Formats: sequence, structure tokens, C-alpha cells
Amino acid sequence: MQPEFIIIHQPAPHVAHIQLNRPEALNALNLQLMSELKEALRDLDADEQVRAIIISGNEKAFAAGADITQMAGKSAVDMYNIDQFSTWDAIKKTKKPLIAAVSGFALGGGCELAMLCDMIVASETARFGQPEIKLGVMPGAGGTQRLTRAVGKALAMEMVLTGRFISAAEALQAGLINRVTPVELYLEEAVKLARELSAMSPLAVKMAKEAVLKAFDSSLDEGLHFERKNFYLLFASEDQKEGMQAFIEKRPPAFKGK
Ligand code: CAA
Repeated sequence: MQPEFIIIHQPAPHVAHIQLNRPEALNALNLQLMSELKEALRDLDADEQVRAIIISGNEKAFAAGADITQMAGKSAVDMYNIDQFSTWDAIKKTKKPLIAAVSGFALGGGCELAMLCDMIVASETARFGQPEIKLGVMPGAGGTQRLTRAVGKALAMEMVLTGRFISAAEALQAGLINRVTPVELYLEEAVKLARELSAMSPLAVKMAKEAVLKAFDSSLDEGLHFERKNFYLLFASEDQKEGMQAFIEKRPPAFKGK
């Protein structure tokens, strides 16, 4: 079935772009949108032609959070049974690099979705925030954890407890995002970054991503051990031979993902 709330583009060879497309609700992440996003990511992750994936919204909103109208009347038991975060767990398993291209609002689940991505390119108009506290709840899709790891306790505590939005400039300074561009260039910049990644060995990129993420839930020793295993494993790839031979022969490498 054709998805209703996302559009998939191919802005460059080996680069896929999923655009969240529920503009009338500022791309609020209802269950169907999240399910479509999960399925698209699963398919793109399995597609050998794709090496990097961009997720964006539109200029006004990346996403203004989980859909409040869908949640408002639910009980704890309903929420438990709906188990919306299993979708997030599936998205987290994406092996290829994910770049969030953020313009306008990235709030609540929108900020959490951007943080679940591996890198964030933002327009100058981007606003990041975890305003759930103003709804009588708190972040539920990783906001208290990923935000704190990215920006540290002081700012994370302030954002989560007061709901204050931060600008793209503040997010850049705090280490939440990678780049800021004028609004007309943020998608172009995300595609540029995705093209850069897609020129690398896709296997090395996936294993390196896995190892960086390991740093967030392991001790230093465990993380180093994991890193070493992935490093050794890459010596089983044709891409390692090609990458090193190309360096020696002073030519650009042609990686195949094998
Ligand atoms: N859920 C459902 N609908 C939403 C929405 C959301 N999160 N955010 C915006 N909308 C809808 C509005 O209801 C409005 O719809 P109508 O035109 O039918 O009234 C439409 O999008 C446009 O929004 P506004 O008129 O409010 O636009 P604005 O420019 O005046 O304000 C805003 C923009 C500050 C982002 C404001 O919409 C807002 O505060 N949105 C809610 C943000 C929020 O609290 N997000 C957290 C959600 S909870 C969550 O995400 C939990 C979690 O951790 C997973």
C-alpha cells in the first residue's frame, strides 16, 4: 500500500530521503505515520542501492511531537497495549546512517526522532524542545536520555522541566546538532552530507555507526572491545582491500559494500 503520511525521494545516487508529510498537523507523529516510517526504513535498510537516509519534515516543522489528539483520552493500559515505542525500537535498529534535516519545530517526539538519527542538519529556523511537561507528562521516546547525553545535565534538565525551546544556534553550541544553514539550504546540506557518507565503504560506515552507538550503553572497556571486533571484522571485506590498495595506488577507492 502507498504510504499516506510520508513521501520517499531519491535526491542523489545511493541516497534516500523520507519526508514526513502531515503538514496540517505540523507532522505530528501519529501511529500510522510512525508505522509507515518504520516500514520505509526497514525496506531502505535492506536495499543495497541505498547507503544513507535523510529524514525531514517541511520548512515549518520537522515534527511537533507525538499526536496529542490521539493520546489525550488514553489510559495507561491503552498506552501499554498500543506499545507505540516498539516502532521506535525497530527504527533504532536501522544500520545505515540516518541524517535528520530539521527546519522549524522539532518538539517532543519530533526532537526525539531527530536525536534518534545519527546526525542532525538544521536550518536557522529550527527550534528544538521537549515540551511534554506542559501537557502534564514527560518525554517517552528517549528525550530524557538522548538529550542529556548530547547536551549535558544542565541544559537537558532545563529543557525537560520547563519545556523551553532552543534555537538552532543554541543547539549547535550545545552539541545537539551538526550543522546550521540558511533555511533554503538545509536540505541541500543534508544531501551533501549523505553523499559524502555514501562514498565510503557501506560496511565500514554501518560498523562504525554501531560502534559509536555502543559508547552510549557500555563501559569503556566493553566499548573498546566491541570497536576492536568490528575493526578486525572489516579486514574480511573486499572494501578494506580496495580502500587500502586505492590509497597505495593514489586513486579514489570504488567501494562495493562487500
Ligand atoms: N499533536 C497533534 N496535533 C498537533 C500537534 C501535536 N503534537 N502539534 C501541532 N498540532 C496541530 C494543531 O493542533 C493545529 O491543528 P488545527 O489547525 O487543526 O488546530 C496544527 O497542528 C497547527 O498547530 P498550531 O495552530 O498550534 O500552530 P502554531 O504555529 O500556533 O504553534 C506549536 C506551533 C508551538 C508547535 C504548537 O502547535 C504546539 O505547541 N504543539 C504541540 C507541541 C508538543 O507539545 N509536543 C509534544 C507532544 S507529546 C510527545 O511528543 C510525547 C513523546 O515523548 C513521544
